[in-house]
Amino acid sequence: MADAPPTPRPSAGRNIARQRRFWTSRAISWDHGAGNNPGLLKVVAQVIAEADATKSEHAVDLGCGSGQVTLGLAGEVASVLAVDISDKMISLLLENARRQGVGNVSGRAIPVEELDFPPSSVDVVVTNYALHHLRDEDKPVLVQRVFGWLRPGGRFVVGDMMFGRGGDARDREIIASKLTLMLRKGPGGWWRIAKNSGRYLLRFQERPVSMHAWVRMFEDAGFEDVRAVPVVNEAAVVRGTKAAS
Ligand SMILES: C[S@@+](CC[C@H](N)C(=O)[O-])C[C@H]1O[C@@H](n2cnc3c(N)ncnc32)[C@H](O)[C@@H]1O
Repeated sequence: MADAPPTPRPSAGRNIARQRRFWTSRAISWDHGAGNNPGLLKVVAQVIAEADATKSEHAVDLGCGSGQVTLGLAGEVASVLAVDISDKMISLLLENARRQGVGNVSGRAIPVEELDFPPSSVDVVVTNYALHHLRDEDKPVLVQRVFGWLRPGGRFVVGDMMFGRGGDARDREIIASKLTLMLRKGPGGWWRIAKNSGRYLLRFQERPVSMHAWVRMFEDAGFEDVRAVPVVNEAAVVRGTKAAS
């Protein structure tokens, strides 16, 4: 019998409600834009490659959106359970699967903070550009819970924007290149700097952490063979394996 999922604290509930509202209102534009974003497509491809999945395996995609990773991964595995906080995203995903003739995908609208599976019941868990929306204290909790869900030999792959607040050289490089790009755009860019300072520094919508922080969370949870691959700009992929017993 699986442990009961943690009861999210009230501030987690506020974040969950905010993310659900935000992503439900942006679901259609994300669905239209994601397929034309070359950077995102590179990260999606890297997440799928790092999953190193086989045709007999069952996968879970956390924060699946309208299916960018799910639909690519579906051809490599027996099934994918696609999970998202927004039921609008799940219906777009199922519609995309139907249109592409992909039959081994199912969807579940639930925040990852409330998700649960029996211990050692999942072969591979992937996620792309979703976990920076979790509160910082919820990230290591999720990594530990994923470790519990995976069978021995199972893999966890996180693709995401990965940078901190200037603590290491990679952070400083990413922040400087973003600032330079926006400053060059004139007043429109200055406005974006102000807006993004709220998003990234005050951390009420986007809460990225560095690649090193993700590696540490994986190692602390017990994952082995943890590796981090920078992909493009601020995006990186971290993967770890639950040792075969
Ligand atoms: C930037 S989109 C990425 C979608 C997709 N994975 C991709 O690669 O295009 C972030 C997704 O994470 C979902 N999300 C945000 N917070 C979540 C949470 N707490 N639980 C489940 N999904 C969440 C959003 O609804 C949204 O679909």
